[in-house]
Amino acid sequence: MKIISTPKELKEYLQNSQQSIGFVPTMGALHEGHISLIKKARKENEIVVVSIFLNPTQFLKGEDLEKYPKKDEADKQICKLSGVDVLFFPHAKDMYTEDEVGLLAPKIRGFVLEGASRPSHFNGVLTVVMKLFNIVNPTNAYFGKKDAQQLNLISLMVKQMFMSVNIVPVDTARESDGLAMSSRNIYLSQQERKEALKIPASLYQAGKMISQKILDTNTIITKMREILTPLEISYVEILNRDFELVRHVEIGNTVILVEAKVGETRLLDNIWL
Ligand code: PAF
Repeated sequence: MKIISTPKELKEYLQNSQQSIGFVPTMGALHEGHISLIKKARKENEIVVVSIFLNPTQFLKGEDLEKYPKKDEADKQICKLSGVDVLFFPHAKDMYTEDEVGLLAPKIRGFVLEGASRPSHFNGVLTVVMKLFNIVNPTNAYFGKKDAQQLNLISLMVKQMFMSVNIVPVDTARESDGLAMSSRNIYLSQQERKEALKIPASLYQAGKMISQKILDTNTIITKMREILTPLEISYVEILNRDFELVRHVEIGNTVILVEAKVGETRLLDNIWL
């Protein structure tokens, strides 16, 4: 596995390649969820590139940038063992200058759900993903469905900016008790880890109601909120695949999303039906 730390060097390394490139962008602290993205990329491409870059522009003031988990050596080992060809590990100074051009998230879809409580978050995500795509020029790029809004906005960016990368959504990896894998799970105390299970439980209940033909979204959301109590709920929403609110679940075109705070840790989860 080759480790490259500057955009210039990575561009030069990949530019004459005629092979398909599968790209997995990450912020490090890799877990099974990332490994499933890498495995899929490995199966579907000739070259696999992973980036590890803790992108400062997607963190708001007071968020967990400083204490975001860092596991550089373990991450390198995981990449090596998962068959990654190139690991891109840039420094912030090589990705950003003082005075930057940046992308803006769309005014509506970028400022609801997670974007409502983190107003400039998706500007930072889209800007860094655009930079990374321009450096790697991937054939396919892999994103987890757990970050459904991020996935939706990146797909929108690719479409609206006429970019040619193919975005591949990958199912959420879960712990054996159902908790969605996340780099932030390590912040949870034992007690919080138990309380966090209310999140997948609420989604499971929604799925159960829908299988019983209860399709009214208000009824489902009310029940989910009951199950999530007493967690601090940021949102529980039922949307279609274009991320528009719907009053009735349409199987095959629905995403149910939850964000709740467990202790000090914000956790996201969703199901796609
Ligand atoms: O999902 C993440 O880890 C990040 O938001 C991403 C896509 C790597 C951009 O920094």
